[in-house]
Amino acid sequence: MYKISLRERVPSTTLATRNTFPYIMPDSQQESLFQQKVDAEQKIEPRDWMPDGYRKNLVRQISQHAHSEIVGMLPEGNWITRAPSLRRKTILLAKVQDEAGHGLYLYSAAETLGTGRDEMVDQLLSGAAKYSSIFNYPTLTWADIGAIGWLVDGAAIMNQVMLCRTSYGPYARAMVRICKEESFHQRQGYDILITLSKGTPEQKAMAQDALDRWWWPSLMMFGPSDKDSPHSAQSLKWKIKRQSNDELRQIFIDRTVSQAEFLGLKIPDPKLKWNEATQHYDWGEIDWTEFNEVIRGNGPCNAERMAARRKAHADGAWVREAALAYAGKKSKRNAA
Ligand SMILES: [Fe+2]
Ligand SMILES: [Fe+2]
Repeated sequence: MYKISLRERVPSTTLATRNTFPYIMPDSQQESLFQQKVDAEQKIEPRDWMPDGYRKNLVRQISQHAHSEIVGMLPEGNWITRAPSLRRKTILLAKVQDEAGHGLYLYSAAETLGTGRDEMVDQLLSGAAKYSSIFNYPTLTWADIGAIGWLVDGAAIMNQVMLCRTSYGPYARAMVRICKEESFHQRQGYDILITLSKGTPEQKAMAQDALDRWWWPSLMMFGPSDKDSPHSAQSLKWKIKRQSNDELRQIFIDRTVSQAEFLGLKIPDPKLKWNEATQHYDWGEIDWTEFNEVIRGNGPCNAERMAARRKAHADGAWVREAALAYAGKKSKRNAA
């Protein structure tokens, strides 16, 4: 499945004479050197030796992340033609274009691990690959665009700031730029909600309704609780992840409560309460049944999202064919 070059697996005599490895190192020794490097905060680069599990885990995570950026354009794209002013329209357009860019950086980062983009896209379109469950919820009002920027991009930032320090070099570097753009996304969402929450009673009610619908799905974005998260412990050891799902979720809640208060909106959780002893907010229970149903494909918009992506892929076939034909002509010309 993964195109791993022999260079990475078995050092050739050429490499040996370059003093890369004086002999063929057994995997166990390679693995311990790899872990030492990770522990010393050195980045792992595409041509470095890495355990198969590390490569596999990264391809899964980075491609899921890329798919989420691409599918994530759909709920907001839905409002570009209906934005309430030219200013809001240009901001939203720029934001949605940023998400396309994030998807492309991430596919490129995943490709450095030996899996082609066409393979990753096929996995998305066949339903074999996952994307963030949050994008299977509908955007019913303009306030939803505010809530997505504030909460969904806000939750994404929590994850992505951590990923700027992830052990795999290309992923970490892609994240630095992505994070800068995500901050703008969160600000534009919050700005929409400031306007609505200071507006008419109807506008304020619209903002509250958006918070009511997006709060819990945003908390689900951090993934299952640590005790039920199959990949977490190994990902932390390899420093792919730097903080656990539950830690990040708690930081997000702690930071977001005061932002909701500033807006004069109420977070839909009767159990939400500051805990002086822990210096964190206590909060209620996530409905994991809902989360699992959405992941399984039974969310409100799963079918619609996949149909839109499949149509876009089919509509773009002529562009891929033209690009291939052009590349073929160019290489023939260069060879002549
Ligand atoms: Fe993004
Ligand atoms: Fe974003």
